[in-house]
Amino acid sequence: NKIEITILSIFPEMFNIITNYGIIKKAIESGIVKINVLNLRDFTVDKHKVTDRPGYGGNNGMVMLVEPFFRFYDEYIKKNNFKPYVVLPSPEGRTYNNQIAFDLSKKEKLVFFCGRYEGIDERIKAIVDEEISIGDYVLTGGELPTMVMIEVLLRFVPGVVGSKESVENDSFYNGLLDFSHYTKPAEFRGMKVPEILLSGDHKKIEQFRKKDSILKTILKRPDLFINKELSLEDKKLLVE
Ligand code: ADE
Repeated sequence: NKIEITILSIFPEMFNIITNYGIIKKAIESGIVKINVLNLRDFTVDKHKVTDRPGYGGNNGMVMLVEPFFRFYDEYIKKNNFKPYVVLPSPEGRTYNNQIAFDLSKKEKLVFFCGRYEGIDERIKAIVDEEISIGDYVLTGGELPTMVMIEVLLRFVPGVVGSKESVENDSFYNGLLDFSHYTKPAEFRGMKVPEILLSGDHKKIEQFRKKDSILKTILKRPDLFINKELSLEDKKLLVE
């Protein structure tokens, strides 16, 4: 496989949402990606398989025990003879984006630790490489953020998305939003598909789409556009 992802969670079944559908399912079947979803309970040290306890200091809810995570980590390194890159989804981390996803997609082995409740005992940080947030809001567990991060990063693993162009044209890839898409019928309730797209003139179509991308970005995401350096050719497109 090109990339191996291991997830540690008390709700491993939640990950069926990403492993059983669409392009990720295909990528797993074709062997490009390996996703191991492990149950944190299998790494507990007591007969009741406890994964959380009330936090020290009182009045702060349940805190996840650090030991099961360390047990997993030690076993993983012993078995693989390899230190994985460990991500901890947390609202305290830097905010996820395409660039971070791209960088993660280059790692050989990734691990995601999913916390719940008030989070994991702070000492978890000793074995975490990076905390990442998916946005300034709080979810009840790390499972959904992990799924979001995996879904985004796998799109950058060669072979996962059908064509390379489709990833490279997507929003944000080159600092611009994606161009508009149309399919049949050519006219729907009086709304027509732009004629150039039906013309078969590939050069013209490419220019039309580039202009559409740029204008959309200016209008809808001026914050993205402000940092964007346009080529002379692109500037010409805008004033023609
Ligand atoms: N866990 C709880 N909220 C989160 C967020 N916004 N991002 C990542 N992990 C989280």
